[in-house]
Amino acid sequence: MVWTSHPVKRLAGAIRAPGDKSCSHRALIFGGLAEGESRFTGLLEGDDVLRTGQAMQAMGATVTRTGPGAWEVTGVGAKGLSSPESVLDFGNSGTGSRLLMGVMAGYDLTASLTGDASLCSRPMNRVLNPLRQMGLKDTAGPDGKLPFTLTGSKALQAIHYAPPQASAQVKSAVLLAGLNAEGETVVVEAKATRDHTERMLQGFGAKLTFGMEPGGAHEIGLKGGQRLYGIDAAIPGDPSSAAFLIAAGLLSPQGDVTVENVMSNPTRSGFYDAVDLMGAGLGAEERGEAAGERLIDLHAGYAGLKGIAVPERLVASMIDEFPILAVLAAFATGETRVTGADELRVKESDRIKAIVAMLRVNGVDVEETEDGFTVQGCGGPVPGGGLVETRHDHRIAMSALVMGTASQKPVSVDDISMIDTSYPEFMDHMAALGADIRN
Ligand code: S3P
Repeated sequence: MVWTSHPVKRLAGAIRAPGDKSCSHRALIFGGLAEGESRFTGLLEGDDVLRTGQAMQAMGATVTRTGPGAWEVTGVGAKGLSSPESVLDFGNSGTGSRLLMGVMAGYDLTASLTGDASLCSRPMNRVLNPLRQMGLKDTAGPDGKLPFTLTGSKALQAIHYAPPQASAQVKSAVLLAGLNAEGETVVVEAKATRDHTERMLQGFGAKLTFGMEPGGAHEIGLKGGQRLYGIDAAIPGDPSSAAFLIAAGLLSPQGDVTVENVMSNPTRSGFYDAVDLMGAGLGAEERGEAAGERLIDLHAGYAGLKGIAVPERLVASMIDEFPILAVLAAFATGETRVTGADELRVKESDRIKAIVAMLRVNGVDVEETEDGFTVQGCGGPVPGGGLVETRHDHRIAMSALVMGTASQKPVSVDDISMIDTSYPEFMDHMAALGADIRN
């Protein structure tokens, strides 16, 4: 169903950021593996995370909702995970499916995995290849696409692995397999990616080692045969979801938007560094800590942004924020150039193509490149008036709807249902700020 975002003069108010998607997946997975009980508050109840919970439950953990955002997990502990009775359907979720492939590799179990059309078109060999080296068996074809069946093993061997892509999901899958492998598993990252697996595993009692290679690559080591122990934790707010509201505040002629409880972690902050370079002048106030992460309240008001060449060192730490960054670039004065971001080709959609099409259909001059895109900013409100093809991609849908709040003519999207995968309250939060989004 088509939904349309109509321009409004003022977006204002304070919104508490939804729970972080990456941390919420990991909370349910690690809680499900641990000895004893874990209790979480502020968990993201998006479809992606709920499916991870269902998968853990299907393999022997007990995952119970005790209130809004409040969940209790009883882990399998020493007993270990067992084969699920039915197919595990991960929906749209790359994180849930890939992290759990790593986990399953280390147990005596067989599981069939599938997902929606988007997930079934995404590359899984990047995870399967290192796991096969460790001892995982699978029925995936040469293209490594879902659906397929995995058979794990209690006799997994540790590896030393340097992923060819900057991917937290690949790093996490290998480390999680390493938990149950013989020997020490080491992952070497040329570029640092989000470190929630490392931080949270330590919170659950695992021991990891960290080193730096002479060329600057990060080494993460983890010895096999470690136990996890249940914890109580509050999930920090999601900086990737907050980015949509912050962008809306920056574009709104009388914008006055506060997003509370946002996780501030250097492996996730690239978007905020980039908009700072564009002249956003965001306000930030300390808010304390949750689950070992620093929390801040962020404030955005209207800012006349200028285009930038996005520094490649920021790419990994803003990999999910390029659709909304592109929208800001379209309103900015001058050119914004994104390079070194070829990982965008294998997200929930080919995000380079999806971003270019989103802007072009709304009258913005944009060029696709192999590893990014170049936007000629309109120096003010973009023309708008287009219908954006969302391609099963929640972040494209949310970005287009934010664009419509400040464009000359309304902006429409062909579907909003997939927004539930990562940010089920998005429409309510936008309405609370004063957005006019209708079907
Ligand atoms: C995630 C890692 C990133 C990111 C995704 C969440 C995670 O994917 O895009 O939304 O929680 O580990 P890649 O590992 O494919 O870069």
